[in-house]
Amino acid sequence: MDRLNRLLTGEEIVSLVKSLADQISRDYVGKELILVCILKGAFMFLSDLIRHLHIPVKIDFVRLASYGAGMKSSGLVEISKDIEIPIEGKDVLIIEDIVDSGRTLQFLKERLALSNPSSIKICALLDKKARREVKIEADYLGKEIEDIFIVGYGIDFNEGYRNLPEIYYVTPDEQEKR
Ligand code: IMP
Ligand code: MG
Repeated sequence: MDRLNRLLTGEEIVSLVKSLADQISRDYVGKELILVCILKGAFMFLSDLIRHLHIPVKIDFVRLASYGAGMKSSGLVEISKDIEIPIEGKDVLIIEDIVDSGRTLQFLKERLALSNPSSIKICALLDKKARREVKIEADYLGKEIEDIFIVGYGIDFNEGYRNLPEIYYVTPDEQEKR
């Protein structure tokens, strides 16, 4: 069994999400914004974020994976579901749960750029800056966190815990160490 320790409460998450939505609403007034959500981890973040935006947007999804079944990144990024809305000439904002090595976002940004959007920016809820392996930064960031493995609010460990409304970090159960 893993032990879950709370990192962010529901209220803290709401306040991060609202503040990001306010910045985005201000910056994209009068533009044609398309939000590209990275499945599965960012689905809850996207659904809360769009409810706080004051501008019209379209949403689309990609499914990428850089993690295998465990806690360690393979460094390889694969795409298994592509966007469906044409993005040529549009303003694109990638919605991500956590930036870690940065490989997922680097891959997606380069791939979306091939379709000639007017702009591509990144909005991430959390960032483990200490683990970065490639040069990429979120243009809109909720919060920087330490190098700890987290779950909840859409984010998984072996596909579990995504439904938790708050964000936790996982530590092995003390009982099991004995
Ligand atoms: P990157 O390509 O190394 O930046 O990995 C980013 C992806 O790894 C995120 O989209 C998450 O799905 C996953 N990830 C990174 N850190 C965590 C974590 O602490 N818990 C669960 N998934 C994570
Ligand atoms: Mg993810």
